[in-house]
Amino acid sequence: MTGPTFTQMPRYTLGDWDNKAAVRVRKNNYRLPDDLEHQLASRDWFAPAFMPYIEHPLIDKAGRATAQRLAANHLVHFLDYTTLLEHRVVNRAVETIVHGELAVPIPCQMKTAGLQLYTDEGYHALFSNEVAEQIAALYDIRDRPLPRRIGRLLGVIDATTPPDHPLAWFLLGFVSETIIAKELLSITRETLVSTVYQMLRNHLEDEARHSRYFSEVFQYLWSALAPDQRALAARLLLDVVGLYFEPDTPWLMHSLASVGFDEQDSLKIVANLLQPDAHARRVRSGAVSTFAAMQQAGFFDDALNRQMFFQAGFIDG
Ligand SMILES: [Fe+2]
Ligand SMILES: [Fe+2]
Repeated sequence: MTGPTFTQMPRYTLGDWDNKAAVRVRKNNYRLPDDLEHQLASRDWFAPAFMPYIEHPLIDKAGRATAQRLAANHLVHFLDYTTLLEHRVVNRAVETIVHGELAVPIPCQMKTAGLQLYTDEGYHALFSNEVAEQIAALYDIRDRPLPRRIGRLLGVIDATTPPDHPLAWFLLGFVSETIIAKELLSITRETLVSTVYQMLRNHLEDEARHSRYFSEVFQYLWSALAPDQRALAARLLLDVVGLYFEPDTPWLMHSLASVGFDEQDSLKIVANLLQPDAHARRVRSGAVSTFAAMQQAGFFDDALNRQMFFQAGFIDG
């Protein structure tokens, strides 16, 4: 039986990193295109899949210029979030692998791939920030608060006792790295401003490799964890998966206000995001690869774990 190429890669590697990684081969300059104005007549800054509220009748009524400005705001916010996530969360998780902070021996190729992944994320942060700065300058976007999710993810570490920090960091990285490829896939299929498309496309190609790597490391780690560590990891995973699908409502309200929506209309626009089962639905569709890796590791063989995730509405019973 012949599967896709990636299933044939040796375990715990990023495949042909030297010839595939964006930081090695994608030397784009990430400058906004010279014909930007022309492109914006038919293309968007960001994909509707990432900002479903954009299709709300009130925004439709406000016109294309308003929708375009909201998309620019959202893209800058997303890229600021990405830059922080890569450095403060994902690369911190990679450090736990590379520097032997987890309670398992790290095979040589797993460490090497970790060092390569760390380099990839540094480049992703660099080009994400470059594009964010250009769009922020273009629209004079000065208010760029810390994305709420970053604060909440770091809060998970603060709520954990120091000896468990490496495990908590690793899990923050594992969940992020197994959801981001699917997120980016939904973006790059849309008709975007060329520089934005190319940047997201380059990012996506790396993330497909990262998702596979983190899934393998998770399975390796899970098989080695003691029962009490597994119980802690299960609770952390439930929280962390939930956090990655929480909307940043205060930021969104602010963005809507910046284009002239009053509070009443803004609340109408964000209402769908806040419906009782909307969060669990986002988790179910976005965390498919995360749950697949957990399933393969035997995580859901444990009735308690299954129960916890079922009660949260994240999996079927
Ligand atoms: Fe990345
Ligand atoms: Fe990554």
